[in-house]
Amino acid sequence: MKGIVLAGGSGTRMYPISKVYSKQLTLIYDKPLIYYPISVLMLGGIREILIISNPETIPLYQKLFEDGSHLGLKISYEIQVAPNGIAESFIIGEKFIAQDSVTLILGDNIFYGKLDFFYKALNHNKKGATIFAYQVNDPHRYGIVEFDQNGKAISIEEKPKNPKSNYAVPGLYVYDNKVVNIAKNLKPSSRGELEITDVNKAYLDLGELHVEKIGRGVAWLDTGTPEALLKASQFFGVIEDRQGLKVACLEEIAYQKGFISKSEFKKVVENIPKSLYRDYLEKILDE
Ligand code: DAU
Repeated sequence: MKGIVLAGGSGTRMYPISKVYSKQLTLIYDKPLIYYPISVLMLGGIREILIISNPETIPLYQKLFEDGSHLGLKISYEIQVAPNGIAESFIIGEKFIAQDSVTLILGDNIFYGKLDFFYKALNHNKKGATIFAYQVNDPHRYGIVEFDQNGKAISIEEKPKNPKSNYAVPGLYVYDNKVVNIAKNLKPSSRGELEITDVNKAYLDLGELHVEKIGRGVAWLDTGTPEALLKASQFFGVIEDRQGLKVACLEEIAYQKGFISKSEFKKVVENIPKSLYRDYLEKILDE
């Protein structure tokens, strides 16, 4: 299983900072937003990761993560020239995906809580696609899935004016290798994008779309607006302060998951400048 993080886009809702800076690099409490989706892939055991972003931001990600080897990862980078749609990820990532299955996570999507819904999807090795459904109170802003009385998904619509349910599709998708061909055959939507919802519809038509509901014990947080970013920061500030544990601390996850040895972890920690972040990792090293 390969992993793609799509972390480009125009980010215009974040203007004026979007003029010079990528949303996925803004701080959510104590670390850049993109750490959160990457942590989800790592927790799922995915170690080969492609980051896709716009030409201006790729060098910043490269500076941040290099080749990922210090985290026991293999991170590569590709440019998306313009925000032509989420589904373009699979065309840009064709070589990277090769013959494998792939999980796509959007660089601005945060999940917190028991991620069993995701681990199950990675392990069951079903043919087709697995996407998720999460109850929200503003369904017109998302891809929305409709279920029949037996809980079977029967339709998906992108940002419907009259949503058929409150179940939004989060930006985390698990696909088999067919996704590359499906993406290549898509036509741009009326807003000129290759839509991820059209990919999911193609799997639905094939009878190969699995939709797993995510329970209310999991937080799926939005980061689309300055207010949403502030709320997410406050959320993680409260949790981290209460537990004394960091969420989405990639170095810690790499060590705990055995992606890097203790001596490699020690080297990583020694390379971090004096900071609260380093203090935290030193504590883990000493445990
Ligand atoms: O967050 C979940 C939702 O994400 C889904 O429910 C929708 O079905 C899906 O279309 C998407 O909706 P958004 O309106 O949130 O998509 P947005 O255009 O904001 O893009 C999501 C992220 O992906 C954002 O961080 C920017 C990045 N992106 C987006 C596009 C269209 C790219 O890097 N390249 C792109 O071409």
